[in-house]
Amino acid sequence: MTAADLFASLSIPIVQAPMLGASGLEMAAAVSGAGGLGSLAAGALSPDDIIEQCRAMRGRTDAAFQLNLLIVRPAAPDPEDVADALERLAPWHDRLGIELPAPPNDYAPDFEAQFAALLTAAPPAASFTFDVLAADQVAALQAAGTLVVGTATTVAEARAWAAAGADAICAQGAEAGGHRGEFLNPGPESLVGTMALVATIRAAVGLPVIAAGGIMDGRGVAASLALGAAAAQMGTAFLRADEATISGPWRRSLEGVVDEATAVTRAFTGRNARGIENRFMREMKGEPVPAYPVQNRLTRELRAAGGRLGDAEVLSLWAGQGVTLGRPGRAADLVKAWWDEAVAVSDALYARTHGRAETRR
Ligand SMILES: Cc1cc2nc3c(=O)[nH]c(=O)nc-3n(C[C@H](O)[C@H](O)[C@H](O)COP(=O)(O)O)c2cc1C
Repeated sequence: MTAADLFASLSIPIVQAPMLGASGLEMAAAVSGAGGLGSLAAGALSPDDIIEQCRAMRGRTDAAFQLNLLIVRPAAPDPEDVADALERLAPWHDRLGIELPAPPNDYAPDFEAQFAALLTAAPPAASFTFDVLAADQVAALQAAGTLVVGTATTVAEARAWAAAGADAICAQGAEAGGHRGEFLNPGPESLVGTMALVATIRAAVGLPVIAAGGIMDGRGVAASLALGAAAAQMGTAFLRADEATISGPWRRSLEGVVDEATAVTRAFTGRNARGIENRFMREMKGEPVPAYPVQNRLTRELRAAGGRLGDAEVLSLWAGQGVTLGRPGRAADLVKAWWDEAVAVSDALYARTHGRAETRR
């Protein structure tokens, strides 16, 4: 099956974004079962758990799904840099009355081991972010029967994935919530809006494109398809779903969010990510922080304690620019409602362009 076949086979061309820390098996199974493409966020999973999650997913639905990994190289930071970074985090631990952690021994899961498990599990599709795979890794997945989706934030990154042999590109616009997938040119140059990014990647690379970033309802889904995308990937729109695995303070922040509340920060993890701006983001602005995955690991206990103790000011409240449009509900109902809206939008456009009120149906 080609990626074009996979997207054409979906009765609803909506991809539930993999969201580490916010989405799990329940959400992925609900979305695939409803006719969209569910995603397992496996960036933090052990090799055994990767195999188990794919098995569980197959037990829940016959429909297609994808598994997502973060391409992270092993980190061996200078102990002095780690000590400095922990020192800067000390007042935040004091605020919560928790102990500053000791320097960790490991910083991120072993990507090569995760990749080997992925080859064994062989889900219908796998998506990747933070870097590009080598051509032989892409070929190995394809030989196992897995379609390869590479995340790109610029046309240059889409070309890099195409050169590696990927089957499809996930075009992640500047509006997107969570971590930026940028790997060639981190920073403002990689903050391209979804509308421009999808259309320019479509023009530059002859692969199916998944639009991601700021798509919150059927209007965004219809707009993505109009731009030439094969499907629309939605993350923030699922954060208030019943199946979202987020903490109480995060959920309450989403419910109470005001316009223009998000910003891009490196403060939590050492990698650019978009979330609802809070005190940690404001006060850490401009502070030197070690690159991902080091800072991500060093703030782990702090963020977990914030969730436990109900302090949203130290939490990474990942969310995209469309966050105020989020609604609660069951993931399957949300997907179906968004697709109904997309069809209605397309009918209204048809009526507008043909100068009459009736629709095609
Ligand atoms: C809470 C959260 C966690 C995310 N985690 C991941 C992840 O684990 N892997 C990944 O490829 N993308 C991740 N993303 C990015 C999404 O795949 C997608 O690009 C983004 O949600 C699209 O923009 P939207 O949030 O405006 O819909 C995450 C996004 C959010 C909001």
